[in-house]
Amino acid sequence: MKWAVVLLGFVLFLGACSTKKEEKTEIKVTVRKYGMADGKEVNLYTFTNTNGMTAKITNYGAIVQSLTAPDKNGKYEDVTLGYDKLEDYINDKSYFGCIVGRFGNRIAKGKFMLDGKEYTLATNNGPNHLHGGIKGFNKVVWDAEIVKGKDFGGLKLTYLSKDGEEGYPGNLNCTVIYTLTDQNELRIEYKATTDKPTPVNLTHHSYFNLSGNGKQNILNQELWINADYYTPVDETLIPTGEIAPVKGTPFDFTKPTAIGARINEKNTQLEYGHGYDHNWVLNDADGSLKLQASLYDPASGRLMEIYTQEPGLQFYSGNFLDGSITGKYGVKYTRNYCAVLETQHFPDSPNQPDFPSVILKPGQTYHTETVYKFLTK
Ligand code: GLA
Repeated sequence: MKWAVVLLGFVLFLGACSTKKEEKTEIKVTVRKYGMADGKEVNLYTFTNTNGMTAKITNYGAIVQSLTAPDKNGKYEDVTLGYDKLEDYINDKSYFGCIVGRFGNRIAKGKFMLDGKEYTLATNNGPNHLHGGIKGFNKVVWDAEIVKGKDFGGLKLTYLSKDGEEGYPGNLNCTVIYTLTDQNELRIEYKATTDKPTPVNLTHHSYFNLSGNGKQNILNQELWINADYYTPVDETLIPTGEIAPVKGTPFDFTKPTAIGARINEKNTQLEYGHGYDHNWVLNDADGSLKLQASLYDPASGRLMEIYTQEPGLQFYSGNFLDGSITGKYGVKYTRNYCAVLETQHFPDSPNQPDFPSVILKPGQTYHTETVYKFLTK
């Protein structure tokens, strides 16, 4: 009898240990009210993986409000710019951390032809259409559902962009699934279907700064882009249509290079962009998920790898930040305070027959994935 009690105790002890272990491998999720927008409730979801990395995501604009990553000493700090409060995101014009849609980047003069019909979109960036228009996917409230698996947790966000919204044809059903994994990755899966042919080019717009909590600008951070070519632009940042080699130009990031090393060189393209604000043509983009770019901060040892299925990468070096925005941690965002690394199809694709097509047709599913993975070196 005594032995039976001891044995039972032992079995219970083992059981408790294994439950504890299971708990440890689960991503923690907490939800809090973030405010109201468009008469709808907005939440802020915090995901924490077993290493201690956190992603805070809101269903307003599908915005990543904060994302932490470890430095070489294991210290987790925020590697994105943004705001503390929802009101600041509602008033924001910089697209901090959001999902951009229906079309990421510019469409010349806000016009394109599709199946013999001309469509007119808002011109919200000089003469051009930018990032989906006046009220893009970054300014709407998405429906949210928590998703969880053995070593990941995240948020499934859905949004129906109605036929005619911002001038685009077709009801577009969009799903974006953000997941934080135990491998210190933020994975983003995009899906969309339509009932009329329409251009679709969704992207994520985090302002990355690997120094941690916005300690300094990104000029010393080293960028690698697996691209031998880029798409030069005119003075309004619309591609000329040329696919130009990067070799011998400040656009050559085929070897990791400090962002600040050539940013002030005399170069017409850098003048047009006020720094880097261009699309790179990723090498060997065959639609599979591939390591195509990385950003490394020698001071903190943080390394971010970017895996994508997309053929292009827009790199924007925060050229329009002028110190007028004070963001998280009370930091004033001045010029070159971030690297926005937007995986996408090329800008102005609807008007460029030689660029990969962005037209989604009824019966097809738009499906693409991008992963931001955090390591140290
Ligand atoms: C994109 C554009 C930039 C700028 C930012 C938002 O990256 O290419 O020119 O508009 O968004 O400020």
